[in-house]
Amino acid sequence: MMGLAGRGVLVSGGTSGIGLAAAQRFLEEGCRVYITGHEPDALAAALEKLGKRGEISGQVCDVSDHQQAIAAVEAADAAVGALTVVANNAGISWREPFLQLEVAHWDRIMAVNLRGMFSVAQAAAQLLVRAGRAGSIINMASTNALGGEEDYAHYNSSKGGVLQLTRSMAVELGPYGIRVNAICPGYIDTPLNQTIAGGLPGDFAQRYANERIPLRRVGNPEDVAAAYAFLASDDAAFVHGAVLAVDGGQVAVM
Ligand SMILES: NC(=O)c1ccc[n+]([C@@H]2O[C@H](COP(=O)([O-])OP(=O)(O)OC[C@H]3O[C@@H](n4cnc5c(N)ncnc54)[C@H](O)[C@@H]3O)[C@@H](O)[C@H]2O)c1
Repeated sequence: MMGLAGRGVLVSGGTSGIGLAAAQRFLEEGCRVYITGHEPDALAAALEKLGKRGEISGQVCDVSDHQQAIAAVEAADAAVGALTVVANNAGISWREPFLQLEVAHWDRIMAVNLRGMFSVAQAAAQLLVRAGRAGSIINMASTNALGGEEDYAHYNSSKGGVLQLTRSMAVELGPYGIRVNAICPGYIDTPLNQTIAGGLPGDFAQRYANERIPLRRVGNPEDVAAAYAFLASDDAAFVHGAVLAVDGGQVAVM
């Protein structure tokens, strides 16, 4: 990708699944990378794995804690030299039917998926503006931001909010040279989805692909990592406030 080599990158939720693949891709592009995750053991394992590929460091951070998010962004900036790319990726999900959805669960998903994304993005944008530095912030949404999948009202709503956060940031941060975009992956084979599918009968992922995805396969984390790399790079220099679906054609279906 054009212009990526040498960039300083923060990947929140970079210890597993899509974020781990994104960190790996940014390292392969010659970036200096900082990852965060909410579990110490997963962070240590990810750093060990990624360390073989390039310059990587990281810390534990719960993005639902505003101060922890600010501290992680500042630590990332110090570690990578000059932070200019944020893959704002951390998120959680589980199935819960709307009629039984507990208010505490609604609050938790909003605190991580929407407010956490705001906290990381705002801290990064403030840092970039203070430093007079251009940058690229990529917010992780989902195809669940574009349609209302059953048993995911809480998740759908959090990711719908991420799209409006992205557009609002694009409007206000464009004049500073900070590009802001969102990615909407469809079904991606990650530990998160493996846990969800593990509680369902049969080969849920393949059935889902056959019934709902025109390319007839679920995505892999590398499919989404490539979208992160593109949106961070100078190949996307005029892509701003955009929503990029990476879903095998799922949202094209009527
Ligand atoms: N897997 C999919 O099909 C899919 C589809 C669309 C969007 N997404 C989104 O992609 C992102 C990554 O999902 P994944 O499937 O790779 O999941 P995953 O469970 O494999 O990884 C999640 C990452 O987020 C981090 N995280 C979780 N809670 C956190 C918290 N409170 N504070 C800080 N970090 C936290 C974890 O430490 C981990 O690094 C999420 O935002 C998810 O909503 C996933």
